[in-house]
Amino acid sequence: MTSVTFANVWKQFGTHTAIEDLNLEIRDGEFMVFVGPSGCGKTTTLRMLAGLETPTYGKILLGRDDVTLTSPGRRNISMVFQSYALYPHMTVRQNLAFGPQIRHENKSEIAASIDKVAKLVGLETLLNRHPSELSGGQRQRVALARSMIRRPRIFLLDEPLSNLDASLRTHMRTEIAELQRQLGVTAVYVTHDQVEAMTMGHRIAVFDHGRILQVATPAELYRAPANKVVGRFIGSPRMNILPATVNVEGDRVNVRCFGTTFSMQGRTFTRDRLSDKIELGIRPDEIQWVKDAPSRCTEKITGVVTSLETTGSDTFVLVNVEGTEVNSKFPSFAPVRRGDAVELVFDPADLHFFDAETGESLKATSAIHN
Ligand SMILES: Nc1ncnc2c1ncn2[C@@H]1O[C@H](COP(=O)(O)OP(=O)(O)OP(=O)(O)O)[C@@H](O)[C@H]1O
Ligand SMILES: [Mg+2]
Repeated sequence: MTSVTFANVWKQFGTHTAIEDLNLEIRDGEFMVFVGPSGCGKTTTLRMLAGLETPTYGKILLGRDDVTLTSPGRRNISMVFQSYALYPHMTVRQNLAFGPQIRHENKSEIAASIDKVAKLVGLETLLNRHPSELSGGQRQRVALARSMIRRPRIFLLDEPLSNLDASLRTHMRTEIAELQRQLGVTAVYVTHDQVEAMTMGHRIAVFDHGRILQVATPAELYRAPANKVVGRFIGSPRMNILPATVNVEGDRVNVRCFGTTFSMQGRTFTRDRLSDKIELGIRPDEIQWVKDAPSRCTEKITGVVTSLETTGSDTFVLVNVEGTEVNSKFPSFAPVRRGDAVELVFDPADLHFFDAETGESLKATSAIHN
């Protein structure tokens, strides 16, 4: 088991900066997830950790060892890719044995570790098949088993489930998380699926344009996003962003949003950064139909229904409020239709406050107690 440190790591490809001043500690035994939109630098970071790319500046440590310039073979890190890269002409057993044979490991030890790993990932009965005779999920398990046979210090997984159908993905993500727990090995898992990130990671690093915006537990990211991009990226349906203005009167901060004005305790905010214009973030779950809302939802806005989406347990209703589309939660099959005027209510305590220019959170505290 091993911890990982990225210290002031940059990666440039020609004039393009793929990673900009990355600083991150991954703890021993931790399941760390990298999440972010396409092209934000997740794979590049993983490849630098594996030794397949060299940082332009900065250092990478495994435990206390500086491995920045260490060759991939000497890092003892294994990487599972989206394409499983199995040898098609070899059986599952031969695929698993290939690495250890190249390293001239003892034959009976190879057979024993194949049996052990195959059992762990549920491949015992499939060892004599060829990859073409396996389902996508089974192939994925062979790829996992092959990387586990190396008994790596760290497991790297780059979108390993993206070729699978939805139900198999859900199943495999539980399996991988459980496997990591059993092995206790440090793992870094890359995905652009925020649900995968939220369900699998001990902590999540949210990447955007080559930078890490926030590293936190799933609960912290959801409840206290450090900025608007993280707030919008984590959580489904997406957080609404509403324009608002503020003015400060003594220890009260008066907030005006659409037709409604309310005041909040000044201590809630980082006061020096409170400019006149802010943006409010509110998740669709937290802005509800007046007829179904808890009594703490005291603030009211009105608008016209533009569309409805029923999930079965809930209905998400898009409401046009003074030209801004607000997604809100209604009970399932609520008796509203497109074109209806509706009242939405929310509790100011549920709001996220962002600087309208920088997008940074203006909340003074982000301490979360799980
Ligand atoms: N070998 C390379 N040469 C030049 N540019 C590269 C190279 N590898 C990556 N890049 C660029 O660096 C940026 C980050 O790429 P990276 O593959 O790390 O993104 P990603 O977050 O893994 O995206 P995705 O979710 O699409 O896999 C992209 O703009 C990409 O085009
Ligand atoms: Mg990638």
